[in-house]
Amino acid sequence: MASVWFVFFLPLLCVGVRAQPEKAKLISLNSSLSPKYGSPMGWASPSGLFAFGFYPQGSGFSVGIWLVGTDENTVVWTANRDDPPASANAKLYFTEDGKLLLQTEEGSEISITDGSGPAVAASMLDSGSFVLYDQNLSVIWNSFSYPTDTLLGGQNLDSNKKMVSSESRSNHSSGWFFLAMQGDGNLVSYPVNSSGESDDSYWSSGTSSASRLNFYSTQLSLNTEGALYLSSGMSSLIIQTFRNSSNPSKNKTTIYRATFDPDGIFRLYSHRFENNGSSNESIVWSSLSDQCDVKGFCGFNSYCSNPGAKAECHCLPGFAFNNPSEKIRGCSRIFNGDDCSKMNNQLISYNITTLENTGWGDYPYYKKSMKMEECSKFCLDDCNCGAALYRNGSCYKYKLPVRYGRINRNETATALLKGHLQRVKSAYRPPPAPMNTEVKIDGKKTLILVLSLSLGSIAFLCLVIAISSFWVYRHQVWSYRQLSEEVNLGSTEEFTLQSFSYDELEKATDGFREELGRGCYGAVYKGTIERDNKVVAVKRLEKVVEQGEKEFQAEMTAIGQTHHRNLVRLLGFCIEGSKKLLVYEFMRNGSLADLLFNAEKRSIWKVRVRIALELARGILYLHEECESQIVHCDIKPQNILMDDAWTAKISDFGFSKLLMPNQEGIVTGIRGTAGYSAPEWHKNTLISVKADIYSFGVVLLEIVCCRRSIEVKVSTADEIILSSWVYGCLVARELDKLVGDEQVEFKSLERMVKVGLWCVQDDPALRPSMKNVILMLEGTVDIPFPPSPTPL
Ligand SMILES: *[C@@H]1O[C@H](CO)[C@@H](O)[C@H](O)[C@H]1NC(C)=O
Ligand SMILES: *[C@@H]1O[C@H](CO)[C@@H](O)[C@H](O)[C@H]1NC(C)=O
Ligand SMILES: *[C@@H]1O[C@H](CO)[C@@H](O)[C@H](O)[C@H]1NC(C)=O
Ligand SMILES: *[C@@H]1O[C@H](CO)[C@@H](O)[C@H](O)[C@H]1NC(C)=O
Ligand SMILES: *[C@@H]1O[C@H](CO)[C@@H](O)[C@H](O)[C@H]1NC(C)=O
Ligand SMILES: *[C@@H]1O[C@H](CO)[C@@H](O)[C@H](O)[C@H]1NC(C)=O
Ligand SMILES: *[C@@H]1O[C@H](CO)[C@@H](O)[C@H](O)[C@H]1NC(C)=O
Ligand SMILES: *[C@@H]1O[C@H](CO)[C@@H](O)[C@H](O)[C@H]1NC(C)=O
Ligand SMILES: *[C@@H]1O[C@H](CO)[C@@H](O)[C@H](O)[C@H]1NC(C)=O
Ligand SMILES: *[C@@H]1O[C@H](CO)[C@@H](O)[C@H](O)[C@H]1NC(C)=O
Ligand SMILES: *[C@@H]1O[C@H](CO)[C@@H](O)[C@H](O)[C@H]1NC(C)=O
Repeated sequence: MASVWFVFFLPLLCVGVRAQPEKAKLISLNSSLSPKYGSPMGWASPSGLFAFGFYPQGSGFSVGIWLVGTDENTVVWTANRDDPPASANAKLYFTEDGKLLLQTEEGSEISITDGSGPAVAASMLDSGSFVLYDQNLSVIWNSFSYPTDTLLGGQNLDSNKKMVSSESRSNHSSGWFFLAMQGDGNLVSYPVNSSGESDDSYWSSGTSSASRLNFYSTQLSLNTEGALYLSSGMSSLIIQTFRNSSNPSKNKTTIYRATFDPDGIFRLYSHRFENNGSSNESIVWSSLSDQCDVKGFCGFNSYCSNPGAKAECHCLPGFAFNNPSEKIRGCSRIFNGDDCSKMNNQLISYNITTLENTGWGDYPYYKKSMKMEECSKFCLDDCNCGAALYRNGSCYKYKLPVRYGRINRNETATALLKGHLQRVKSAYRPPPAPMNTEVKIDGKKTLILVLSLSLGSIAFLCLVIAISSFWVYRHQVWSYRQLSEEVNLGSTEEFTLQSFSYDELEKATDGFREELGRGCYGAVYKGTIERDNKVVAVKRLEKVVEQGEKEFQAEMTAIGQTHHRNLVRLLGFCIEGSKKLLVYEFMRNGSLADLLFNAEKRSIWKVRVRIALELARGILYLHEECESQIVHCDIKPQNILMDDAWTAKISDFGFSKLLMPNQEGIVTGIRGTAGYSAPEWHKNTLISVKADIYSFGVVLLEIVCCRRSIEVKVSTADEIILSSWVYGCLVARELDKLVGDEQVEFKSLERMVKVGLWCVQDDPALRPSMKNVILMLEGTVDIPFPPSPTPL
């Protein structure tokens, strides 16, 4: 027993010993600090290597910690980094009641050590951490717990925490990239504003499976000897070492810092301080050597060239820098072609410029195999097409803006850029026919007429061009803004459900004229709400269980509060007696069924993999993240809609709650859709979330193979039932049969097939939960070989 206590107390004792103010100078209550022009001003650590206080930033001062004595002081931590710098009249004040406050000139008081209790002393330690102590001299706040862009020896980046790069070397506010210590054990860097999906990441430690080894979370650590590593668990099992410790040299002090630099590369620096006071900074490890590997280093519509340290950003042909002095901030079209459908084609024409060995990220919205010349024409004739890539016999069309562009000898694609606006010379000729007749009538008058008409038309043309450039500009700004909003889908967005009158909706849909589709709950109509000129989809419910108005409204509100990137949003509803209508956001790009079963619109493999994950996330939300569990009951490709950005969104959710008398009762009315509904529907047994898992499995297999679950027009009878055919191919190791000659990533194909087969098991207990489905699809956990979906 005693030894157990001893072990338990040991770490506390150590902390206590290290915290002893024997060496560290204590900063007592009532202390204060003011900035000084031209130099940093702070409380130094005993070694004098670190200091905490005001350092100059822009035209003012920020509060932070820096490494003293280096040529330009190296800032390692900044408090409230995104606040504007304070003026020279600001004051840092350690108040009598133990709070550390920044008092600004304007008189506001900003806490530097958020969340700490009252302290009695503070100290700047030699490790580079600033700490606050309580009466017992235990540390109650430590700057090491809040890393900004730098780790020092002894500091960790915990699981589910991230470091955000600085704006630039001289501006320490949040910049353009982040490095996340993910919960799955992977250390990954992304451009800021990306949704954290693997397509956006540009560097990772590749340790996502490590969390399977034990149940503890992974953390990134730097020790004082300069070892940088990932470890996991109580025993600190080392998972990956980026750099080993080096022997400390006797005559020098070496400080290590691991900084996620403004250019998006994670680097380990050493600072060697000689005994005579001089210091030397050097890079001892870095995550990437090629700057062009950093996604988002060059902004929209530009590309990165020159591998290595001297990377440069160039605009795509036909584009110009948004800010010529900051070439990394992207480019915009010189003349915009987005409105090509609306413009008078006689006045404007486009050509195509090619750029070899150039590629970019993002998903094409269209792919087809053809010749290169055809690809140019194909893009020219399509108003949506801003640029195309021609790669290995296929033409990929993209909308603007394009991201992550780079030129690289290994890239086999040729970029086809559309956009150069040319004025056709004939446009300036005065309109011919009616004038010619007048010329014959009266010479002089006609001259004046011709002159005024041509001057007038030139003026008119100029006006048209000016107005259209303005609109084009507006449109572009709008679409850029839209893009960043999409990426940044705020989950905190305030949400209110509108209530509509029946008349209003009848008017909005023009008397329910344009039917978009018909489901088992009723028909859906297109409409426009006059109040805000918003295009919506209005659903007229037909088979809803008779329910009191209050209950219906309560139910609607509950559904209305579900808010997820992969669910179609309910905007409002109408209840008038037996008339019940729902108003949804309108999904312009049709349903998943179009993308899978219509050969013309079929999307490429990567897009389908993404859609499968998005669908899974939407269902996970319904099953596990809503206030009360929602079973969808009718997952099928027709109910999965695509928004403007081609994000998959589930529609028609929440109806099970309206339709079923109780949560897990025997269902009376509706039975899903043949082909997608789980076997338990036909056995009148209890329905649970596992019914959705079954339908998801069917849809997943359809996504893989781009065909329906039951198809009679096939070459052999074995292929009629999709799940049996897929299982046969998996057993025979012939998965390539499933995708024909499409280029797919084999690993993800195998994962999707195995997951799909687990989901369509007859026994609901065998089907995995949605959470596990996602882990398996992402490749985080291994997938056991599935049993046959149809038991013998
Ligand atoms: C701080 O100053 C106040 C008066 O200004 C004084 O009463 C108090 O004792 C001081 N506290 C410390 C710890 O010096
Ligand atoms: C630092 O960068 C941010 C973000 O771009 C900017 O808002 C701020 O004004 C900059 N601060 C200084 C001192 O230049
Ligand atoms: C300080 O230590 C004493 C005894 O160890 C304890 O009773 C007291 O609660 C501690 N105070 C704080 C603020 O932790
Ligand atoms: C990220 O999003 C914010 C807010 O939407 C925006 O102000 C910022 O410019 C975006 N940054 C990038 C790099 O797109
Ligand atoms: C660190 O040292 C270990 C054992 O000496 C070695 O296996 C490993 O490769 C080294 N790692 C690095 C990044 O140098
Ligand atoms: C360290 O300093 C001592 C004298 O101060 C000197 O004799 C010795 O050579 C130095 N060692 C190294 C490794 O520089
Ligand atoms: C300090 O010593 C190093 C080598 O030990 C030498 O290179 C450097 O010039 C010296 N600096 C000063 C300021 O004396
Ligand atoms: C700093 O250290 C690096 C690596 O050890 C060395 O190449 C460089 O010459 C040193 N610079 C100075 C000024 O001492
Ligand atoms: C497209 O038109 C622009 C502007 O007239 C011209 O500079 C460019 O060379 C043309 N490109 C091709 C490939 O003809
Ligand atoms: C290009 O396509 C052909 C046939 O479609 C295929 O055999 C080949 O592997 C592809 N090449 C690359 C580099 O993808
Ligand atoms: C091109 O590919 C070769 C071999 O696959 C690789 O060694 C090289 O680093 C690649 N070059 C670039 C710029 O990616």
